[in-house]
Amino acid sequence: MSEQSSFYPELVRDIEPPRGRLGVLLPGLGAVATTLIAGVHLVNRGLAEPYGSLTQMQRMRLGKRTNPRFALIKEVVPLADLKDLAFGGWDIFPENAYQTACQAGVLPREMLDQIKHQLESVKPWPAAFEQAYVRNLSGNHLKRGPSKKHLADLLIEDIERFRRAEDLDREVMIWCGSTEVFLEPAPVHQTIEAFEAGLRANAPEISPCMIYAYAAITAGVPFANGSPNLAVDIPALGEYAHRHGVPIAGKDFKTGQTFLKTVVAPGLKARMLGLTGWFSTNILGNRDGEVLDDEGSFRTKEVSKGSVLDAILQPELYPDLYGQVFHKIRIEYYPPRGDAKEGWDNIDIFGWLGQPMQIKINFLCRDSILAAPVVLDLALFLDLARRAGLSGIQEWLSFYFKSPMARADLRPEHDLFIQHMKLTNTLRILVGEEVLDHSGLDYYESGDAYRESMSGL
Ligand SMILES: NC(=O)c1ccc[n+]([C@@H]2O[C@H](COP(=O)([O-])OP(=O)(O)OC[C@H]3O[C@@H](n4cnc5c(N)ncnc54)[C@H](O)[C@@H]3O)[C@@H](O)[C@H]2O)c1
Repeated sequence: MSEQSSFYPELVRDIEPPRGRLGVLLPGLGAVATTLIAGVHLVNRGLAEPYGSLTQMQRMRLGKRTNPRFALIKEVVPLADLKDLAFGGWDIFPENAYQTACQAGVLPREMLDQIKHQLESVKPWPAAFEQAYVRNLSGNHLKRGPSKKHLADLLIEDIERFRRAEDLDREVMIWCGSTEVFLEPAPVHQTIEAFEAGLRANAPEISPCMIYAYAAITAGVPFANGSPNLAVDIPALGEYAHRHGVPIAGKDFKTGQTFLKTVVAPGLKARMLGLTGWFSTNILGNRDGEVLDDEGSFRTKEVSKGSVLDAILQPELYPDLYGQVFHKIRIEYYPPRGDAKEGWDNIDIFGWLGQPMQIKINFLCRDSILAAPVVLDLALFLDLARRAGLSGIQEWLSFYFKSPMARADLRPEHDLFIQHMKLTNTLRILVGEEVLDHSGLDYYESGDAYRESMSGL
């Protein structure tokens, strides 16, 4: 048998180099966004390390195992340098990034004080917001306009002003704003013509998050959605992004409990261990927790978190193992904890001959510490996608999302390990490297390969 190797020459991209500065636009300058901005400045000053970020720290194997190269991702694909990033954003509160980061209490004050000046310079622009969509928040740092289309135009003006003021070459937008109330896809979301008519007519099915997404795509800016809001996950904006050659990704950053769920569930399934119940509960006390204390926003989060198990376990293929799973998710707002969330998972499983077993997970995580590197990677990878000429849904970024977007006729992939392979292999394809399937048979089944390996002994 000859050596297996998969190259996809037709998919290799002529990637424009990341010249100049990249603007990172953040609707929602809250805990996650300010932890990201602080982190990038601290890393740039050599005062901290970007743990948790694949673009900054991960190596991937290139070539055969007999002659491997473990290169940093950022050495293999042309990514923007952290020193070339500029941050801007919107919020319904006027406090600058330093004030908000202090209030959020994610990073210690001594760390924030080392980059106080840089954080203070990020002052949010007035937001496109309506309290009907986030009932537990009220702020007065808002844009005013007769229609949602008018608000979109004002957001585009902000982007253009920022572009000129910071002398930017390119921008990306990552929604770090609050979780909005649950919205079902409606006729106004189906085509861009219906959507634009809805913007002009103030259709209630168009939420503020969608207005930002529309503004980003119109301005040619890639957009990722870190919340479970529908945002770009509607046919109208998917089609619009394609038409404008703009990459989009979403939705809902995969950080704490769901991250672990997508690690454990594939393991159970790989070993054909059955599941009868999975009870997940959390306490958190930050502003995100306060927003999720409202039933409407909680429903949006619940739907996003809930799809994970079914998608991984495929009960339709394994009814005996996974046909009767009781999956329950709770999020409790508990102010004393601030951003230091605590999650408990009770997992009831069964094995050989139906004998029951249990797994308990107690994750004392830090929400924004887990989310900040995700936002950074998404910003850099979306910018890469744009320079590589990719547009529409970037499924290879599913790795970062609880509720990954996929083409309407494809099942989204939730298994973290498949998502990781999808991401790294996409990077290999883009730069013309061999795709790795990890089967390894070619090392054993080819006589030549065997003789070659023995000759080295
Ligand atoms: N931290 C995590 O691990 C994690 C994981 C998954 C998803 N998320 C999502 O990321 C988002 C940000 O989380 P966070 O902890 O930073 O929350 P946060 O409450 O600290 O920050 C959100 C900010 O968005 C602002 N905002 C709300 N609506 C806005 C609008 N229309 N325009 C501009 N600003 C608006 C709020 O005023 C707030 O300052 C939330 O939607 C959250 O559900 C976070």
